[in-house]
Amino acid sequence: MTLRLFETHEALSLAVANEILQRIQRKPTSVICLATGDTPLRAYQLLAEQVAKNNVDVSQAHFVALDEWAGVPPSNPGSCRHFLTQHVFTPLAIKASHIHLFDALAADIRRECAAMNDTLKSLGGIDLMIVGIGMNGHVGFNEPGVPESNYAHVIDLDEITQSVGQKYFSQPMKLSQGITMGWQNIFEARTVILMANGQKKADIMKRAVEEPISNACPATLLRKHADSYFFVDALAASKLA
Ligand code: GLP
Repeated sequence: MTLRLFETHEALSLAVANEILQRIQRKPTSVICLATGDTPLRAYQLLAEQVAKNNVDVSQAHFVALDEWAGVPPSNPGSCRHFLTQHVFTPLAIKASHIHLFDALAADIRRECAAMNDTLKSLGGIDLMIVGIGMNGHVGFNEPGVPESNYAHVIDLDEITQSVGQKYFSQPMKLSQGITMGWQNIFEARTVILMANGQKKADIMKRAVEEPISNACPATLLRKHADSYFFVDALAASKLA
């Protein structure tokens, strides 16, 4: 794991936008897996701006979602599908055949996960994965204690995630389960960038960087990946030793 520090969230976001852009320029058929949430939003806006300004061809790239709230319909602006459609797929004019999302309403969510694993295999794996970090150290919805052996799977969300997750919804929402890429999908991704910004992420970033590697704080597991990066702004890095 390489730690990269940025003065501001804006600088961090620009760096992430550039990483995505450069990856697609180097390999136009790249498979990019994206997190949702407050952290990467600005990076995706900057990515869309750069693509338009520099006329970059992103039409051959494939985009994959990192996770989804089980049971939340796609019409709900709090769903990961809605977020990625609004902030990435529509601005970049990505074809439906190049978008791979979890169906939160699937009758058989486990089959949905197996289908995602098959899709990733047929695309040749994930080239670049952008992830955030939950207040409990989760990555995607890999909550504390989740086995490292998992591929995409359904998981019971812990209480912190259920309550923090309310911020994405305009009305109180029952968030009992999530669908997520598992640690094996993350370990197999060629490059993984974890983003963290703001004072509220300072305690969990200290744990992610300094605690012994274990699934008690899932983000520590990323330190085992051969090409992983923690992109952190000054506030989120403020408690690092
Ligand atoms: C959410 C998502 C993660 C996200 C994280 C941080 O629950 N499952 O994929 O990265 O929590 O979200 P935020 O960027 O809003 O702090």
